[in-house]
Amino acid sequence: MSAQKIHVHPFERNWMIFSAIMLVLFATAVSVAAFGMGIQVPGPEQRVDPRTVATDPNSPWSSPGLREIVPGKKYDAYILAHALPTWEYLPKELTVPAGSSVTFYVTSSDVQHGFKIQNTNANFMVIPGQVSKLTIKFSKPGIYNYICTEYCGVGHGVMYGSITVTP
Ligand code: CUA
Repeated sequence: MSAQKIHVHPFERNWMIFSAIMLVLFATAVSVAAFGMGIQVPGPEQRVDPRTVATDPNSPWSSPGLREIVPGKKYDAYILAHALPTWEYLPKELTVPAGSSVTFYVTSSDVQHGFKIQNTNANFMVIPGQVSKLTIKFSKPGIYNYICTEYCGVGHGVMYGSITVTP
């Protein structure tokens, strides 16, 4: 008895090869983006209690704003989004010098909001109980507005702030 040969139609075989090549290409592209170019996906950084995050004196969001880590180079920005008592971000304005890396820690004390910084690739959800973290380098001077991108009530459209990057 001779061993049975599996017959694969050439058309089918070609698609199998094509699929395998595509998988390798995608895996390579994702690896290069993540490890080579340092492109990160914003992830939940820590959990907080949305009922006390804005008032607890130990919470950085009880005094939201900029923290200087390395003068002129590295900053942390604690930003609170809320719909009550009114739709806004705290703080509404930040100023950093050009060339700064700013790590944003954003959370909400009530409903779900969004956080998108125009002319950057920052665009993420702000979920009550979670902290969204992302680092952005501001190389060019200018004004970068941040806006809410998740519908959060009648004041959604007026929820914005701005980052001034000075030369
Ligand atoms: Cu906050 Cu929409």
